Amino acid sequence: MLAPATARVPVGGPGPAVDSARSRGSASGVTSLTYGQYLRLGELLTLQRPLSRPEHHDELLFIVQHQTSELWFKLVLRELGTVCACLAEDRPRPAFKAVARVKTVLHSLTDQWAVLATLTPADYAGFRGDLGTSSGFQSYQYRALEFALGAKDRRAMERAEADPLARELLADALKRPSVYDEFLRFLARRGHDVPAEVLDRDVTDSYRFTPPLLPVLRTIYERTEEHWEEYEACEELVDLEDSFRLWRFRHLQTVERIIGTKPGTGGSDGVGYLRAAVDRRFFPELFAVRAELG
Ligand code: HEM
Repeated sequence: MLAPATARVPVGGPGPAVDSARSRGSASGVTSLTYGQYLRLGELLTLQRPLSRPEHHDELLFIVQHQTSELWFKLVLRELGTVCACLAEDRPRPAFKAVARVKTVLHSLTDQWAVLATLTPADYAGFRGDLGTSSGFQSYQYRALEFALGAKDRRAMERAEADPLARELLADALKRPSVYDEFLRFLARRGHDVPAEVLDRDVTDSYRFTPPLLPVLRTIYERTEEHWEEYEACEELVDLEDSFRLWRFRHLQTVERIIGTKPGTGGSDGVGYLRAAVDRRFFPELFAVRAELG
């Protein structure tokens, strides 16, 4: 972990801020680099720019909570990429390790809602008008996360059209097999009778519930001793979906206590829309099979 003072970092650190420090060099081969340079604090800490005039005390909280969430989304996207790559290489253990990290981040983001819940309805109303039509609904990293988990709503691509960064991220996530696609391919390579319709599906489409997959999962759950790693993979994905759902649920709860039944700034009917989102499933058969067990 970095110490919050001047850190001594081996040459090879990241980006231009580091490069200028590096160019000064030192005889010992390590570069003198400060904590602030390494983390680009000069840039990072000037990116919170409330719009309310006079500035509303609580707008900073609102911005910090969104920006930190986006940073964690960035990490989660990277880790989900690792999950896919490891499953594709038939290395379930490192995939589980990456899933464990994603779950922990999602739990931490879920706990973070408690901070925003300290924002009263009147506090929020004090700067809500300054947000215009901006909404978390437009978070393209969040959409990329949904894509990585198999929920690929192409309308997100249309909304991202004007933003090159968003377009690139979503176009890439759209064409990649999702975590669930890689999981099902992994099962097939382990000898399970995964239906061809899911193995050959167009991965740019949203995943749809496929009943013929249920007997495959049922076998894994009923004969765990024979299929231990596959069983573990199933449960890791169930955990992952649970964690994501908890985040969604706490978002809904927090929104409800702050704006009640008001519509959202993004144009939806607000909590009604968010409630429907909580019920969506990424890995539907992993939940459906439970009704058949025992
Ligand atoms: C006072 C705080 C907040 C309120 C009142 C709020 C309200 C809402 C509402 C009403 C929606 C539905 C879309 C719309 O019509 O705008 C929404 C969507 C969304 N919000 Fe928030 N939100 C808040 C904080 C946050 C934070 C901190 C994040 C973190 C990134 C976030 C991320 C999202 C995302 C990703 C969606 C899209 C969800 C989906 O489509 O399933 N929101 N929010």
